[in-house]
Amino acid sequence: GKSGYDHYMLKEIYEQPQAIRQSTRGRILELDGSVTLPDLPESIVEETDRVQFVACGSSYYATQYGAALLRERGIPTQTFVASDYDVERIPLESGTLVVGVTQSGETADTLGALRDANRAGATTLAVTNVVASSAARECDATVYIRAGPEISVAATKSFASQQATVAILASVLDGRRPNPFLGGLRDLPSDIQRVLDTSNAREIAAEIVDADAYFFIGRGYQWPVALEGALKMKEITYAHAEGFPAGELKHGPLALVTERTPVVALVTGSNEVVEKTVGNVREVESRGAPVVVVTDSPEDVAHLADFVLEVPETNPALVPVVTNVQLQLLAYWTAYELDRPIDKPRNLAKSVTVE
Ligand code: M6R
Repeated sequence: GKSGYDHYMLKEIYEQPQAIRQSTRGRILELDGSVTLPDLPESIVEETDRVQFVACGSSYYATQYGAALLRERGIPTQTFVASDYDVERIPLESGTLVVGVTQSGETADTLGALRDANRAGATTLAVTNVVASSAARECDATVYIRAGPEISVAATKSFASQQATVAILASVLDGRRPNPFLGGLRDLPSDIQRVLDTSNAREIAAEIVDADAYFFIGRGYQWPVALEGALKMKEITYAHAEGFPAGELKHGPLALVTERTPVVALVTGSNEVVEKTVGNVREVESRGAPVVVVTDSPEDVAHLADFVLEVPETNPALVPVVTNVQLQLLAYWTAYELDRPIDKPRNLAKSVTVE
């Protein structure tokens, strides 16, 4: 059941600390200073020189986040929307690990891409939530995200668990010790709990519910989170929402910005990244757009924003897992204001088993 929550989506948002605890269990070796994936054969780790991710929807955004982490660790990585993956045109070099990220393990597009990769001779890895799903059965190896069952059509805890799992995968393929993600991964459950306990997303949602469109902007690791925030908003509110890399605004989308288009800006990261995003926030503010800033340094950016969604400070590479929780809550409470059928949006299915 919904354990007292109005919707499965909210229940699953609140289950995220526990979901992350499960995702990381047995995979963080504190004493050793390392991160491990016992389910990933050592031979695959050794043979992997580069990675191709294939996925759809939210899972695709999780792979974009994962790819940024892998590239930062010197592992050449590409991401493909599974329905557009074409082994003929994107030749597989030897040493390529093809990683399908899929909550259900049954998404036809993702299974199709994994089968193509397999036929072309690549080693395949499934990163999935569902034990013995088609993806798990068909790939050379499987790493479970262990988010627990997800009922709501809108992916929430599965996305967080995918983010944590691809961060662990990046660490394992990189092999560096002490692992720089260790502390951040360990703190994720309590960081997310703090957001759940203190978020003012409900109040903000009530203020921005009447809008023509919503824009989400972020740079670097936060770009995929901006895309995910927009997807969540459009799925459950039916409002138009779009995510952009913050720097792209001025190359076109800025023409759409008015007093009736709230802009949600993810402002975290190094000073340099923050400064640039702050510049983008000024551009939309001067067009009169209501600005919602999601940030770990409210003292520096609060003056820019109409509304602030605060997150605890953590490893800059892992803070996107936490900021995303604020975007989930913002979408949820906006849809709630609009009285939408949150768990079962029109036209959508939990698992898309046709190509
Ligand atoms: O089961 P999968 O992770 O393969 O599903 C992929 C997408 O269909 C899924 O993430 C979809 O975009 C969600 N409804 C997003 O909330």
